[in-house]
Amino acid sequence: MSLHPNIQLSFATTFVTISIIIIISSTFATSQTCKPMCGPLPVRYPFGTGPGCGDPRFQTRVTCNNQHLTFTTHTGCYPITSIDYPNQIIYITDPSMSTCGCNQPSKGFGLDWDSPFNFHDKTVFALLNCDSSSSPVSKSDGHNSPACDPVSGTRVCGLLNSCQAVSRLTTPVSSCCVYAPVDLGPSFEMDLGKLNCGSYSGLYGFDGHANNPESWKYGVALKYKFNFDNEYPELCADCERSGGVCGYGGPYSSFICNCRSGINTTSDCSFESTWSGSSRFVHGVFWIYPLVWLVIWMMV
Ligand SMILES: *[C@@H]1O[C@H](CO)[C@@H](O)[C@H](O)[C@H]1NC(C)=O
Repeated sequence: MSLHPNIQLSFATTFVTISIIIIISSTFATSQTCKPMCGPLPVRYPFGTGPGCGDPRFQTRVTCNNQHLTFTTHTGCYPITSIDYPNQIIYITDPSMSTCGCNQPSKGFGLDWDSPFNFHDKTVFALLNCDSSSSPVSKSDGHNSPACDPVSGTRVCGLLNSCQAVSRLTTPVSSCCVYAPVDLGPSFEMDLGKLNCGSYSGLYGFDGHANNPESWKYGVALKYKFNFDNEYPELCADCERSGGVCGYGGPYSSFICNCRSGINTTSDCSFESTWSGSSRFVHGVFWIYPLVWLVIWMMV
């Protein structure tokens, strides 16, 4: 007994179609453009791992290259050490800055005037190795140069000077200037060349060891704002809750939700929870297809 050729053909068509669907769905499962992680750091709104991810205003400033999250300004590229999402703070390091263990020349640090970042109150800068005869910091007028803080300055400079690496340069304490740049705004630029200072240290905490500069937290703490009202966009919150990554696309850079399957939606990825259930079911019964073929073949 033999099957009608038309029935055989429709079996074959069904088999091929289902196989294609399975292959496509397993490809989609790994094609998410916007990644939720960059190396060990979670990446969430407003940051993104590539073009079209996160918020467009942040896209050129925070990038993920070879699994390293990097912060970029006109003065250089800085590794991001951590992100405090609830408090909207990023912590960066500057490989050219001086610490207790390493005093090295630097050109300084600056934020872009149009960037959505500003210095966090915690951030304190110590300008080091300033030429006290010519440096504007030693005759602060409060306008063109940073105003040194005489109170905490003496303490921080004194302790930094007690570090071997710093004191090796035998610089007097007076050539060090400490200040917090908070009031100077995002256009603040620390041009060490203009200030006649050779290097700087950035600090964002004493880690409970105010008198031990080896334990201080060296780096720069920056706060960021989502937008004018600093509100977390509701659509993006829904997208992230459903396992998606927020991004943007289209001619107006409008919001998209990049789902785990690679599909973009304008709402969230809740459809995926049912969808991945059914795709698991399809994968689970995959072994049935050769069996069906075998049965058909035996009937022929
Ligand atoms: C989804 O959006 C991202 C970011 O805009 C884009 O790179 C990607 O091509 C889009 N994927 C699809 C399937 O449209």
